[in-house]
Order: sequence, then C-alpha cells, then structure tokens
Amino acid sequence: ALTSELGKQIKLKEVEGTLLQPATVDNWSQIQSFEAKPDDLLICTYPKAGTTWIQEIVDMIEQNGDVEKCQRAIIQHRHPFIEWARPPQPSETGFHHVAQAGLKLLSSSNPPASISQSAKIIDLLPPSFWENNCKFLYVARNAKDCMVSYYHFQRMNHMLPDPGTWEEYFETFIDGKVVWGSWFDHVKGWWEMKDRHQILFLFYEDIKRDPKHEIRKVMQFMGKNVDETVLDKIVQETSFEKMKENPMTNRSTVSKSIMDQSISSFMRKGTVGDWKNHFTVAQNERFDEIYRKKMEGTAINFCMEL
Ligand code: A3P
Repeated sequence: ALTSELGKQIKLKEVEGTLLQPATVDNWSQIQSFEAKPDDLLICTYPKAGTTWIQEIVDMIEQNGDVEKCQRAIIQHRHPFIEWARPPQPSETGFHHVAQAGLKLLSSSNPPASISQSAKIIDLLPPSFWENNCKFLYVARNAKDCMVSYYHFQRMNHMLPDPGTWEEYFETFIDGKVVWGSWFDHVKGWWEMKDRHQILFLFYEDIKRDPKHEIRKVMQFMGKNVDETVLDKIVQETSFEKMKENPMTNRSTVSKSIMDQSISSFMRKGTVGDWKNHFTVAQNERFDEIYRKKMEGTAINFCMEL
C-alpha cells in the first residue's frame, strides 16, 4: 500500500505548462486520441467546483430519478474521468458493454454517454469533442471557495502533493501551480468559449441557491423530460446531506492510503462562503486585486456568499 509519505513524494508533470498527475501525462497520447461520439456529453470542471455533484445530477436525470439505478456503481465508474485512462475495475464489469481498458471502455458506453473530465483547459481536450460538436456541461465555482476546497483535498488525497500551510497554498493556487493549472485560465477559457459551442455554463452557487431551477436547465440541455415530482426527488437525492451519506458518491470505498477521510472528508462542507473562515483580511485584499487583473475584460460574475 502507498504510505502517505510515499504519496506525498508524487512529482507532478506538465503538458503545455499545465501541471497534471503523472499517470495522465504518461497516457497523454491515448487520451488525446479519445474518440468522442456526436451525442456524447462531456462534464467539465475545474477541480473542486462540484464535479461529483453535477455527475450525480446528470445520472439521476439519465435514470429518470431511479435511486436504485444510481446505486449501480460508484460515481467515478458511472462517469469515468477521461484523463485517468486507467484499467477497468472489477466492479465495473456489466456497467459498460465491454470492460476494455480505460478509454476504450468509455467509447463503448451507450449514447448519450456522459463523460466526466475534471478540469480541462480547452486546449488540452481531445480534439474529437470539438470535431463532433459535442455538448459540454461546465460548472464554475468562485475562486476563493475552490481554493479552500482544493487545499483540504490536497491534505487528504495522497495522490496529490502536500499543500503545505494555508499561507503557502494561497500562493501556489494563485500561481496556478496545482493540478489542472490556473483557476483563472480555466474559467476564463470556458466562459469565452461558451457561446461558440454547445456549452451549458453553470455556477455552483446557483445550484446551491436554486437547485430545481438549475437541474431543470441541465435536463433541458440533455434533451430529457422528467416530470415535476421526479425533479423534486432529484433535488432531494442530490443534496449535500444525502450525497455525504451515499457510499456511491462519498468516496468511502476509496482506500485510506489514497484518500484519508480522517484528515478531511471528501464531502467536506458543501457551502458557499467557507473562504471567509480561511482568508485573512490581508489575503482577501490581495486576492481581490490579483483577481481584478487576471479577470480583466471578462464579464463573469460570481456570487461569493448566499
Ligand atoms: P467543499 O470542500 O467546499 O465541501 P469536486 O466534486 O469537483 O471534487 O468538488 C468537491 C466539492 O463539492 C466539495 O466542496 C464538496 O463538499 C462539494 N459537493 C459535493 N457534493 C455536493 C452537493 N451535493 N452539494 C453541495 N456541494 C457538494
């Protein structure tokens, strides 16, 4: 088993200046040659923006609110990350037609497949997604809460480098020296692309404030039609409290040597504005200044508290 010490020695690699996990870089050509189909739906997020949440929402819509069907496998297997390009797990057999390795397994899933992709700078996406005019579901979360969430995630995830102190991590995050690179580039990139492709651009904070409204948007974007009672059920089943208790979404099946939830839960707080419990006044001022510069000319507006 990986000891935490060993895990923390993990050296990230780079593609076009973006830090990535070594396994992703080692499989880069395979990932880039992924063949998307025209009715694939790709979920794209910067890490910690609510990937798991939107994955569960999409699957619930896909399964017409059938909770049992959504219990068929852990979320990482229902929506495989294309950047993981990893061999199939024993528990996956039967969920996809052919349990071939990584990317093959994805391309063999039934259309419309939804494929998750944590975080992607647009340039790093396999070109077939653009060539096939696929649909993209992007979820953005305000930078400060993302930073806090990512910090705690790096503390407990032994496949990622130790974040160091909060003060250290604050600089690391601003410099984009984290897996999947700069939050600013990521969010700006997708925001600028959103009107040129089939991209539904959602905000974590909106889903939190009015889940039914946002889930309905997702449903319409997917070309599905579930009725009001099912929609209400989906809202309930995808609440933070439910998903925290749900072994198919809370990562409790992941070994402690990979994710040590005694350090910090994968389903940690699920709120808007936890940054206020972390940022000092000075850090907040400095961050706002940097944010203004980096996001200049971008008309995106984030809600920072509910
Ligand atoms: P916190 O660390 O702030 O609690 P990702 O899935 O992209 O890794 O994002 C994880 C973040 O989304 C965590 O944030 C997690 O608690 C939050 N999250 C997951 N499911 C959620 C839900 N149903 N409602 C609200 N937040 C959720």
